[in-house]
Amino acid sequence: MAEEVRHPFLHGLSKHRGAPPTVVVIFGASGDLTARKLIPAIYNLAHDGLLPADFHLIGFGRKAIPDAEFQQIAAAAIKEFSRREPSPEVWARLAERTLYVSGGYDEKAAFDRLGARIAGLEKDSGQPLQSLFYVSTPPSVFAPILQNLGASGLAARYAGQLNQSKVIIEKPFGKDLASAQALNRELTKVFAEAQVYRIDHYLGKETVQDLLVQRFANSIFEPLWNRNFIDHVQITVAEQVGVEARAGYYEQSGCLRDMIQNHTMQLLALTAMEPPVSMDAESVRDEKVKVLKAIQPLRLDGADCDVARAQYAEGVIGGKPVKGYLQELDVSPTSATETFAALRLSINNWRWQGVPFYLRSGKHLARRVSEIAVRFKRAPGSLFADSDRSILAANTLAFQIQPDEGLSLVLNAKIPGLETRTQPVKMNFKYATTFGSNTPEAYERLVLDAMIGDGTLFIRGDETERSWQLCSPVLAHWAAQGRTGLDSYASGAWGPKSAEALLAANGHSWREP
Ligand code: NDP
Ligand code: BG6
Repeated sequence: MAEEVRHPFLHGLSKHRGAPPTVVVIFGASGDLTARKLIPAIYNLAHDGLLPADFHLIGFGRKAIPDAEFQQIAAAAIKEFSRREPSPEVWARLAERTLYVSGGYDEKAAFDRLGARIAGLEKDSGQPLQSLFYVSTPPSVFAPILQNLGASGLAARYAGQLNQSKVIIEKPFGKDLASAQALNRELTKVFAEAQVYRIDHYLGKETVQDLLVQRFANSIFEPLWNRNFIDHVQITVAEQVGVEARAGYYEQSGCLRDMIQNHTMQLLALTAMEPPVSMDAESVRDEKVKVLKAIQPLRLDGADCDVARAQYAEGVIGGKPVKGYLQELDVSPTSATETFAALRLSINNWRWQGVPFYLRSGKHLARRVSEIAVRFKRAPGSLFADSDRSILAANTLAFQIQPDEGLSLVLNAKIPGLETRTQPVKMNFKYATTFGSNTPEAYERLVLDAMIGDGTLFIRGDETERSWQLCSPVLAHWAAQGRTGLDSYASGAWGPKSAEALLAANGHSWREP
């Protein structure tokens, strides 16, 4: 009985939030993302009873893989990457619903075979199935997949109904404004916008969702959340890893495309947007687009330059010497690809005019940490300065996105004693302490939301285009400059001098997260 409650998927029950009977089809199912994130996410949804009772998974790829072999591949991926120990019972039920279809992404006949397989599942279960197509291939094959989903009629299945087909599309969504617009056109030739789920896995992170709760479920923040009280905002997405084995991709991408245009811009939009009228997808995304539209074009050179870029040089990480970017495998010795980027953004609206938003991201930095730090204006310190000449710290509210997820607030407190001396103190809230540490992975939430039809945590077409509109001129400028103006930083440091200069120009400095 207890088992029935823990694993409702096993018994044909579901606590799911309304997903109709579904078949998830993963294109690129033999790939790294499928093994590390997607299959473990689907397994954990099954484990939690969040999949519809009538659920099926189909892998799709070029190599001929029998169903049984794909089931073994999936089992191995779950064993290695699931956040939880797999339960044999839950996996057995999922395994019998896990199939594989092989064929080329540009081969219409393969999509017809896929359609026939889905029709067979529907016949067996006696009801229509929603098809959720997850495009998890390199971007070079996004377009042929979309075209064949259109040509085979799979994209238009049950159009306008609860179980209509949907598509999740992986990043990178374009490499500049023109290619993002072209991809949006490919998508909207075959899918309505309501069927499209552009993924940014940062939106699936628990702490990123909590940012909205903290902002809009607590009345103390909103009155202060503006240019009258906030001095500036720093958004840091720092990685300690280097390019690893991904130079093939990264050499074409660089930090601005890989991290800033999507993940950090999303963090900025959620921090700076106006309160939406409701939490439905369109209301939230309308507000994000509005604030992205208010960001001023970046100044690309001269004394007012708003951007900095750099490459990691040799250095020390975790006590060990590490290579510089140019020495990494498959990196051109003359590469101008930036592994670090920082931007100073101005939002020209009523709420934020005059409040700089600083964004930075990079690889081979001092440690892995992502945070949004909201720095408030200093209190006038004269009352206490007489007694101890101390300088009061500026209050800082920091949302720690990862790791060690939490929220902290720096306040000034009186040091106990007969004199009135102050010291900054930190109030800390840690998720793990309050809620335990086994939180769902981003992809669990995102796959479930797409099944349910909730696009709140996905990027709308106009949103991605607006973000590219800001970043594309920067990329074009950097491409024209080549290595001229490309700064460097020692691996294991917090970034280059040019990033410090961006803030110093306003009398600010990066905080150490
Ligand atoms: P892979 O490079 O592992 O490719 C996935 C699958 O696509 C391969 O197994 C292969 O399947 C097929 N494929 C690969 N190259 C080609 C090609 N040139 N032409 C046609 N098919 C090809 O990608 P990932 O799994 O790492 O990533 C998938 C998507 O997710 C990408 O868009 C990536 O940017 C994005 N992503 C990945 C992350 C990760 O951690 N891996 C993180 C964030 C986003 P087969 O040969 O069986 O057809
Ligand atoms: C991906 C980037 O989108 O995000 C990677 O392509 C990066 O380069 C990764 O390492 C970081 O994600 P996370 O969730 O580990 O912070």
